[in-house]
Amino acid sequence: MPGWELINKKEQKALNKIFNEGSIFFAHGFDNLRKKYHVREFERDICKKFGVKDALAVSSGTAAIKIALKSLGVKNGDEVITQGFNFIATIEAILDAGAKPIICNVDETLNMDPSKIQRLINSKTKVILPVHMLGVSANMNAINKIAKKNKIKILEDNCESVGGKYNGKYLGTLGDVGVFSHDFGKTITTGEGGMIISNDKKIMKYCREYHDHGHENNPKLPRGRDTKTIYGFNYRMTELQAIVGKVQLTKLNFILSENKKRYGVLEKFINKNIERRSLTENSKSIYDTFIFKIKDQIIRNKIIKILKRLSFGTKNLPDALEWHCSFFWDHALNKREIKNSRNDKERLVQMIAIPIFLRKSVNDYKILAKEINKIFI
Ligand SMILES: Cc1ncc(COP(=O)(O)O)c(C=O)c1O
Repeated sequence: MPGWELINKKEQKALNKIFNEGSIFFAHGFDNLRKKYHVREFERDICKKFGVKDALAVSSGTAAIKIALKSLGVKNGDEVITQGFNFIATIEAILDAGAKPIICNVDETLNMDPSKIQRLINSKTKVILPVHMLGVSANMNAINKIAKKNKIKILEDNCESVGGKYNGKYLGTLGDVGVFSHDFGKTITTGEGGMIISNDKKIMKYCREYHDHGHENNPKLPRGRDTKTIYGFNYRMTELQAIVGKVQLTKLNFILSENKKRYGVLEKFINKNIERRSLTENSKSIYDTFIFKIKDQIIRNKIIKILKRLSFGTKNLPDALEWHCSFFWDHALNKREIKNSRNDKERLVQMIAIPIFLRKSVNDYKILAKEINKIFI
């Protein structure tokens, strides 16, 4: 589960240091007053860790999606295909970029169903936006093939699965551009924050300028005289957030391996007759959520009660289903998309998600599995 559970003296010490470095919280300028540029360093560390040419730190994952969509040329009247199991942010970003969200159903992996994409494509389709939900990759080979065939770009929303892999490559690096969220519930956190990653120079140039009022950060000019060709907005990350992000990133491998231990216990001990979420072939999960299917309402309620009593909760299935399934978003989507989302709702209401917390021990998860199994005796 989230990096917030591991916030400790390391983040505190790193934050304290900035007061001896000139106390500059802004990412740009103040060159004579500062010793370091932490946003730049965080971006460099992200490039190194995830094997991408460029990374841009921004103010949130939602902002990252919007900026990335715009960098792909999305504009008024375009359509962007995303999925029914999602978070509302993705839809908001599409709408804010002026485009229309088109809902593709998810399959048994709870990620975008590649077999349902082609029929949604028309001359207005600009981008396919798969969302790697709750730690597990979408089938990127199949999605990439469809995008290539139809000459459509891919933006990976990897807000929820930072550190996950597909075919040995980090999620977020498999399409044209990828985004992370570093909000407080995510694998590595900066409080609020997001990241855009890509190997495409043109995409990253646009993102960098758009997120910073159009600033080109021309090295030959002071910031006040800087050049510009596009207007943008302010979606910048602060130095304080980046300092925390740098420390959190060093904890990512540990978080993933600890997740796996707890997830492994649930996988091993929870009654084998219970149907698990299918994991996408060739994917490496971040193991931060254990999801399984229980149709029977009475049994569901009993399990949910145990999860509440032992203070695990059920993350967004079903605790926050209304924020994670497009069937419930008639304030943002038209009737057709709501109707298209019905299948996803039917699938998701049968699921229960157990969050993996690092503050819970491996043994706590063993006890939980035993408690759940008692229902089936
Ligand atoms: C799939 C998905 N996309 C986008 C976001 C938005 O990220 P942020 O909260 O950083 O704006 C989230 C956050 O919960 C998410 O889960």
